[in-house]
Amino acid sequence: MKEVFERYLQHFDLTNPDIKKKQIHTYQVAENCLEIAKSLGLSEQDQILAYQIGILHDIGRFHQLELTNSYDDQVFDHADYGAQLLFDQGLISTFPVRVGNYEVVRKAIVNHNKYEIEDGLEERTKLFCKLIRDADKIDILELSCDGMIQTRLDGPASPDILMQLERHQSAKVTQIRSNIDRILIRIGFFYNLYFLPSMQIVFDREIVKRLEDKIEDDIVHRELERAQRYLKERLKC
Ligand SMILES: [Fe+2]
Repeated sequence: MKEVFERYLQHFDLTNPDIKKKQIHTYQVAENCLEIAKSLGLSEQDQILAYQIGILHDIGRFHQLELTNSYDDQVFDHADYGAQLLFDQGLISTFPVRVGNYEVVRKAIVNHNKYEIEDGLEERTKLFCKLIRDADKIDILELSCDGMIQTRLDGPASPDILMQLERHQSAKVTQIRSNIDRILIRIGFFYNLYFLPSMQIVFDREIVKRLEDKIEDDIVHRELERAQRYLKERLKC
């Protein structure tokens, strides 16, 4: 799977740092998918499927940059575009994905970046939607620890976002008004993880602590501590 994807990526300029970042993100998300799938005790075939979804989930991103020269999600939905490319234009047939799993893969990709998973999906499909969303969030949080986040904070924190965090809810990106909001939205990801194994990964990799070390801000620290308490409570540790 990875080899086929790697060949596909040769169509893009991998010397472009933005493209390179997406390549790295893709493989890390796929590994996260595999780890969560194993911890959930999924069958070997379903572990493979989880990995495949991880590899394909952001395929639209590589085109987004070429088509729009930006990663602005408000103007281009890379998930819908990726699904269209794979399933309407037939690109999926070049990947070793079982035909019987096509619909699960399509739904998982379409739903990976939405605020909520669409209603009416059957359980198995929903499971893989949740899995890719957790795997993706974990990597976005980890990339934030490693520097891909604006740490120069400006503007007051949005009271609505703070209220949602207090209730252990994640806010919407459309509520962002300042850089501090941008970080608070990421902190909301901790409350949005579906599976305990995902929370365990976050805890074991010390993601909260790494973010604390990275960002010096009282509000951010207070919210990170709240998130850490939440994780400990859920993991009973
Ligand atoms: Fe994505």
